[in-house]
Amino acid sequence: MHGTNTHILFHEFDYLEPASVEEAIGLLTHYGPEARVLAGGTDLIVQMKMERLAPRYLVSIGRVPGMEGIAVQDGNTHIGARTSIRTLRNDPWIRSRYPVLAEACASFSTTQVQVRGTLGGNLGNASPASDTAPALIAYGAEAIIRGPEGTRRVPVEEFFVGPGRSVMEPGELLVAVELPPPRPGTGGAFLKVGRVAADLAKVNAAVVVIREGDRIADARLVFGAVAPTPLRTRKAEAVLVGQQFSEEVVTEAAQVASEEVSPIDDVRSTAWYRRELTRVLAYDGLYRTWERASQPAEQFPTASVASPPAVSLSRPLRHIRADQEVEVHLTVNGEQRRVWVAPNELLLNVLRERLHLTGTKYGCGIGECSACTVHVDGRLALSCLVLAVAVDGSEIVTVEGLASRDGELHPLQEAFIRYAAFQCGYCTAGMLMTAKSLLEEIPHPTEEDVRDYLKGNLCRCTGYAAIVRAVMGVGGEK
Ligand code: FES
Ligand code: FES
Repeated sequence: MHGTNTHILFHEFDYLEPASVEEAIGLLTHYGPEARVLAGGTDLIVQMKMERLAPRYLVSIGRVPGMEGIAVQDGNTHIGARTSIRTLRNDPWIRSRYPVLAEACASFSTTQVQVRGTLGGNLGNASPASDTAPALIAYGAEAIIRGPEGTRRVPVEEFFVGPGRSVMEPGELLVAVELPPPRPGTGGAFLKVGRVAADLAKVNAAVVVIREGDRIADARLVFGAVAPTPLRTRKAEAVLVGQQFSEEVVTEAAQVASEEVSPIDDVRSTAWYRRELTRVLAYDGLYRTWERASQPAEQFPTASVASPPAVSLSRPLRHIRADQEVEVHLTVNGEQRRVWVAPNELLLNVLRERLHLTGTKYGCGIGECSACTVHVDGRLALSCLVLAVAVDGSEIVTVEGLASRDGELHPLQEAFIRYAAFQCGYCTAGMLMTAKSLLEEIPHPTEEDVRDYLKGNLCRCTGYAAIVRAVMGVGGEK
């Protein structure tokens, strides 16, 4: 028996890559509780590294077609379970029609985890502190679950059973979430208090009201991290519904909500403080929501929906046994590379130890420092949480690929030198790769944009000011 070591995955498993939803369900049914679904990996791989989970079979749905994207079907907004948190945060349709969900996604963890983490993963791990769940419950969303017996729809409010437990049975797969169209007069807000920007919530709150003149026609107040599951405070809602909006009503509803929750003491907060936060977030959320509910409905775009990307899997079911090695083909910094790997080998180890690209650094190993950030197929990835087999065929860019072939440094590298934006340099590769992605997504960021985008990249030396100045020096408004 070995102690916890987050450097590598000791745990061995078979890696399976189904080519369709049906095939994924067949595998999950066959292997039952011994199998886990791998999507973004930002939670599952961490749990495995921490030796809290030890599945014998990983069913990777990363390339299963039809599980990603946003579409409108019969007036409802249909979100594939593999749609990333970052996509939901940025999508114009979600931002205008379901701003509470977009705000929840914006508050979610680090940029790297937003890019790789999926909506299905955030619901599927059934954390009481899920950020997306309160927003989905407040909008009356349904989870669409497929299994060997067919498809069933479950209100997200009923999806959670307890900490880490949902209504999902072995063999079932969460394939999508569907939101009904918002009623006229709907306003909403998402509020969250955590220890630091990228942390799980001490308390989060999704507040949605439907306003008819000065009257509250309907209200939903949903809180996370204050009960074994995300909690809708129905008694507080009853205080509001049918009433004129007033200081007295809001104060009473907030007080009732704080009495309705059942928080615990843990490493993030005390039960007492969580109860207080529930009251404050309910109060603030109701005021913010009421203001928004009075804004005209024309703000909604008429039709702007992200199409699911054309992902296709040309190969049949792939099954790599735990004791087997396979050859993966990677394009790393423009060069074709082939490496033999076992299913439990991580991209970080392949880059550093097989390909000797040691610019990418190993820090925490569990997705908390971002020192290991690289680009995979043009998107940020924490290489300490990515299985090498799962990125077979992908294009990888590391810090060694930033400078041009003739040695000319990238403008960000030049700026980091000019602004003295590093001391020991351990975080620098991750900072540079993240900043490059930032400037691709937001070519002229504000300082707030830079600080938010880099919030997951930890630096023990510089105090961040010089790093922010360097990035602003390249892309920021002059
Ligand atoms: S080493 Fe990957 S996030 Fe810290
Ligand atoms: S420069 Fe030392 S950790 Fe950032």
